[in-house]
Amino acid sequence: MTRQNVLVFRALPPDQLARLEAEHDVVCADPKDPAQRLQFEAALAEAHGLIGSSYPINSPLLQRAPQLRVVSSISVGVDNYDLDALKDRGILLCHTPGVLDETVADTVFALLMATSRRVVELSQLVREGLWQRNIGEDLFGFDVHGKTLGLLGFGRIGQAIARRAALGFRMPVVYSTRNPMDLAATAPELQGLAHRLPQDELLARADFVVAMLPLTESTRGMVNAKMFAAMKPGAIFINGGRGATVVEADLLAALDCGSLRAAGLDVFAQEPLPLNSPLRTHPRITPLPHIGSATHETRHAMAVLATDNLLDALAGQKPKAVYDNRRL
Ligand code: DGY
Repeated sequence: MTRQNVLVFRALPPDQLARLEAEHDVVCADPKDPAQRLQFEAALAEAHGLIGSSYPINSPLLQRAPQLRVVSSISVGVDNYDLDALKDRGILLCHTPGVLDETVADTVFALLMATSRRVVELSQLVREGLWQRNIGEDLFGFDVHGKTLGLLGFGRIGQAIARRAALGFRMPVVYSTRNPMDLAATAPELQGLAHRLPQDELLARADFVVAMLPLTESTRGMVNAKMFAAMKPGAIFINGGRGATVVEADLLAALDCGSLRAAGLDVFAQEPLPLNSPLRTHPRITPLPHIGSATHETRHAMAVLATDNLLDALAGQKPKAVYDNRRL
């Protein structure tokens, strides 16, 4: 097979880099690093395949890559990619669904526990030497078990969160999706334990509202003042999907007026979160640096799948995980 040009734009584990180098001519260059920018541009002009994540692959960039045939994202989310521009150029987009579901669900559950039981705040109190007597009611948290979980978005990750809640914490689970789902086929273990509700009913009933929405034109800014106002007083909001699905100013207002008890956020409209963002220091927000899938095991599994996808596509074979065939 002819060797082709591959540009790696975000670090790959050495074993996966070696797989690529065995078959192709590989350049690693991080476009976010000013010292590597020229090398990135030069490699882009020759590249047949790109692999990486967390960098916008937009139309102007694609114009500088005339030979490009495949982009393999080391992520499940594809909001960094201009889908129309890729489609127009006939460039295949691959991603990494499936391998990160359980890990992201763990992260979301960590946020549920941390916000409700005030884990970070109370741990900080111990670290600061302020644990001088038994804590009083003012520092008590709220139970997680038995409370109602409302999921906005019920894809593979949403279902993994629902399993933890329903089977592990005896939580009634409600979810809202645009189209009805056949739970018997997709998640039989959740039959009778998770129920689809209209969004307003879900918001009125859920003690925890968890957003697991992909970022698309229809979900951008979807979680707004109107939705926060419809949430049960004292609800906790968690976002493990994409930051820009939430109007962050409306979230802050809902926390400040006391209608929302707390928020746990792994994702933000701008990442990394700017130092002057009020979301960074708000006393009732538990912020995480987008670590949904960030475990050694899962990040490696994502890199393996992304490398498989790229090698298959460059060999003219159908990759395991092409993003949405119907759109491309
Ligand atoms: C993804 O893969 O899209 C996740 O956000 C990474 O954690």
